[in-house]
Amino acid sequence: MGYIGSHVTSLLLQKGIEVIVIDNLDNTRLEVLDGIESITGTRPIFKQMDVCDEHNLKAVFDEFHDIGGVIHFAAHKSVSESVEAPLKYYDNNLGGLQKLLKYAVLKSIPFIFSSSCTVYGQSETLPISESEPLKPPTSPYGNTKKIGEQIIEDCCQAYEGFHAILLRYFNPIGAHPSSKIGEFPKGVPQNLVPFLTQTVRGIRPVLRVFGSTYDTPDGTCLRDYIHVMDLAEAHIASLDYLLKNQNSDSCEVYNVGTGKGVSVLELINAFEKATGKKVPYEFADPRPGDTVAAYADASKIKTKIGWKAQYSLEEALKSAWEWEKSLERIE
Ligand code: WQD
Repeated sequence: MGYIGSHVTSLLLQKGIEVIVIDNLDNTRLEVLDGIESITGTRPIFKQMDVCDEHNLKAVFDEFHDIGGVIHFAAHKSVSESVEAPLKYYDNNLGGLQKLLKYAVLKSIPFIFSSSCTVYGQSETLPISESEPLKPPTSPYGNTKKIGEQIIEDCCQAYEGFHAILLRYFNPIGAHPSSKIGEFPKGVPQNLVPFLTQTVRGIRPVLRVFGSTYDTPDGTCLRDYIHVMDLAEAHIASLDYLLKNQNSDSCEVYNVGTGKGVSVLELINAFEKATGKKVPYEFADPRPGDTVAAYADASKIKTKIGWKAQYSLEEALKSAWEWEKSLERIE
């Protein structure tokens, strides 16, 4: 029920699929359920519990016999925090995954895992395809994604009938078009778009653009920014694909991105164009550990699963701004 999970839940409910949400509310708010309900007219079944709590997890799988799919989002995601508190990340991100897998494997329930383009590091080739060799992770967070993928691959190999899809997200941005759900960054946002919208709203004095002399067309880093609604649709399409057993391999991996590399300055310009708001920004030193350029070759998911990003960058940024303004109203 975090940022991405809440959008996927809304889409699933709108398609008439029953959803059981498991969340310990560590990094979200209970009101997200109200947002989902007001969008869809339905409230998902909600279990407030830790995904690492095996006793309660077993109870959920015992109570609901006909779970058709598991989508696993429950992970800590701060790169910097993971460097300071690696055990927190290994415990939660990998512990939770293993517990969930135990029941998914036992009942051969199709499984979708939130992985990340972070597993590619600075890729030798652009755009990045799924066959690109993975780089050693630069943070414990990244390592949990890489090891998580390996654990799932091992399970698919070992347990016949167990099928999974690993989705490597590029940079999710934006919010639901209703502005009823979106992202709640904890503390000072680390990511570009929430920092930008908070700056325009006046919560932060200025957006610092990390690095201006990279080997890119305008000197700033390139990323593949994907609207969270498109990302949510990619989960629905992947689940559908798994349920129809169209997959040829028991574990398949897909990039989820738009295929377009966008620089930080291009994103700022697109935001200004989409919203009519000026972004106060200044150039700052490069952020340690940043990759220069990362954008997806998104052709595999289009060919095999039939999913492709639909929203433009401007639409995504406009929705992020609308969401930011809706937060202003409720505070
Ligand atoms: C985007 C660009 C910054 C903030 C994150 C996760 C990573 C993976 C992908 C999850 C970069 C620049 C940012 C700011 C800036 N996802 N920037 N000023 O670095 O691609 O990584 O998403 O699994 O693990 O960490 O995203 O939004 O932090 O940065 O100039 O205040 O914006 O340098 O070029 P990133 P980001």
